[in-house]
Amino acid sequence: MRVADEIIQGLTARPRTLPPKLFYDELGSTLFGAITKLPWYTPTRCEEEVLRVRAADLGAAIGPGAVIVEPGAGLCEKFAWILPALEQPRAFVPMDIDGDTLRIAAGRLQRAFPSLAVDPRVVDFTRDLPWPDVDAGVRQVVFYPGSTLGNLDHAAAEAFLRKLASHLRPGDKLVLGVDLVKPEPVLVEAYDDPIGVTAAFNRNILVAIRQHVETDLDPRHFDHRAVWNPEVARIEMHLVARTAHRAHVEGHAIDFAEGESIHTESSHKYDRDRLEALAAVTGFEPEVLWTDHKGWFAVTVWRRT
Ligand code: AVJ
Repeated sequence: MRVADEIIQGLTARPRTLPPKLFYDELGSTLFGAITKLPWYTPTRCEEEVLRVRAADLGAAIGPGAVIVEPGAGLCEKFAWILPALEQPRAFVPMDIDGDTLRIAAGRLQRAFPSLAVDPRVVDFTRDLPWPDVDAGVRQVVFYPGSTLGNLDHAAAEAFLRKLASHLRPGDKLVLGVDLVKPEPVLVEAYDDPIGVTAAFNRNILVAIRQHVETDLDPRHFDHRAVWNPEVARIEMHLVARTAHRAHVEGHAIDFAEGESIHTESSHKYDRDRLEALAAVTGFEPEVLWTDHKGWFAVTVWRRT
């Protein structure tokens, strides 16, 4: 399905949805970068603590001469944190949907580490995962930090991890970073910050989709809302229509009732049991799991069985 059709289908369905990958146009990637600096957004700060404290262990778990693939690498900041702890990585293959952001980030990384082979791929990795040619005997490592996995519901997360596993050989590794369940007020503030950066990020999706479709959807007609859904352990972000109004997408009329929402993102939060169960059904064996000192974010290393 073309992205335009995904958008039309999501907006004409009930409940209305948009896929969160569409947040990341150039402005959206910048706004997400700003979110990661917010004191209320815990995942990035907690993950950075884990990666810095455990850098040497992580380097040992990854081993020398690895080819490292990162889906959704964005600004490539997390890889830059772990790189000093890696022993002679053979290549880094960052993938991202936003070409402007990825090319700039990969170029910066390449200049900082001239001997590293950097091979960026501008792709929607939810559709295709262009895998590098890696010689037999060279260890492949998927670096999938940032709780990017959290955007997928459980069935989709399993399917994506199985797809990763299908590219890996026994002994290859997956380094997975996921945000953990924590007290509800902490979770909600992370997605509804008091200075409105997350609200801007959410509303920007209505602007970002203009790259793909002709539309008069107007961010001024929508409020940002973030709610914790305890049944499925996820934060949901919505854009809620302030008033009843009609908008159009590629000629389709879309009638919003007052208070009707577009569900733009789910961020699933994990716990240890759920992670172990997920590894077992996707072809991996958990090797280690580290958290930050608050126990809010986990980085786990899985071995392809
Ligand atoms: C990049 C998907 C991990 O779900 O926490 C941040 C995106 N959305 N604030 C997340 C996001 C709202 C983020 N991920």
